[in-house]
Amino acid sequence: MMNPSDALDELVLAAKNSFAGAATPADLENAKAIFLGKSGRVTDLMKGLASLSVEEKKSRGAAVNLTKQAIEAALNERRQALATAELQAQLKAESLDVSLPGRQSSAGGLHPVSLTLERIEAIFGSMGFDVAQGPEIETDWFNFTALNTPEDHPARSMHDTFYVEGGTEAAPNLLRTHTSPMQIRYAVQHVKKHRALIDAGGLMPEIRVIAPGRTYRVDSDATHSPMFHQCEGLWIGENVSFKDLKVVFTDFCRTFFESNDLVLRFRPSFFPFTEPSAEIDIQFQAGPLAGRWLEVAGSGQVHPNVVRNMGLNPEKYIGFAFGMGPDRLTMLRYGVNDLRLFFDGDIRFLSQFQ
Ligand code: DAH
Repeated sequence: MMNPSDALDELVLAAKNSFAGAATPADLENAKAIFLGKSGRVTDLMKGLASLSVEEKKSRGAAVNLTKQAIEAALNERRQALATAELQAQLKAESLDVSLPGRQSSAGGLHPVSLTLERIEAIFGSMGFDVAQGPEIETDWFNFTALNTPEDHPARSMHDTFYVEGGTEAAPNLLRTHTSPMQIRYAVQHVKKHRALIDAGGLMPEIRVIAPGRTYRVDSDATHSPMFHQCEGLWIGENVSFKDLKVVFTDFCRTFFESNDLVLRFRPSFFPFTEPSAEIDIQFQAGPLAGRWLEVAGSGQVHPNVVRNMGLNPEKYIGFAFGMGPDRLTMLRYGVNDLRLFFDGDIRFLSQFQ
């Protein structure tokens, strides 16, 4: 027969092994129940004491107590170990690498050409000009014919463009080659609004509008891009003259470039929708571009045929129009020498304007 104290030692050993084999706190609680639970093996030993004599109870009771304490100590030790392991695992899983640089929130900004368009709108707005937007897919009528450029007109060949679906075979729709169609679109609306007054011989409120937007031509080099921007201007009334164009455009250029010693030159030119027509050149008196004549816009007195296509009597209504290139104005203002940079989308270039 086994020595009773050996049996107790073995029980402690069995408990330790059982606890060591528990991989989780839940396993450990199950293992605990086997030894220390209500009908566990240590509890059985305690119950067994009842049938012993007083003498035996003393010695046996002390031994059983030591056994119980040893098992409890082993249990606590294992609990600690499991808790520590769990904490370590959690720390590892949830660790933050504080040496990583933080994520910066970068502020966006407007594209340089958008900045220019905003400037143009603000300056002309302060001179009483409305701002209008029009479609980029145009009909042959608005892009050419209504602007005194009939189908066989040689000036059409300067506007090689992208034709799209829609329209007729003889006159397909196209990506607009300039913002000039907005002259007609805007004027027609304006005239419609004031038709009764006009028919009654009253004084139509003047048409004063700019129309900025994207335009398209088959063209690509350092100063041309298949998509580019234009801003149209139109001023029609009963007594609007070339002198007004000169004043308005000179004022605009000086404000835009923030320079009063900017000189303008109106150089005779040809456009089908104006007569007479002029190209507008500017000359800076200081800075890196000083002394050179730089073309910034086309302009002229609106052709009688165009006035008629607006729904107005050219004997009564007269005015001028201009079309400028915001991309070119942006290049001049910031000293950019390649137009394509604006449309490459390179953030290193664009961020310099923020
Ligand atoms: N539409 C012309 C072009 O794209 C520019 C232009 C010239 C517009 C004279 C005008 C104008 O309004 O009067 O080349």
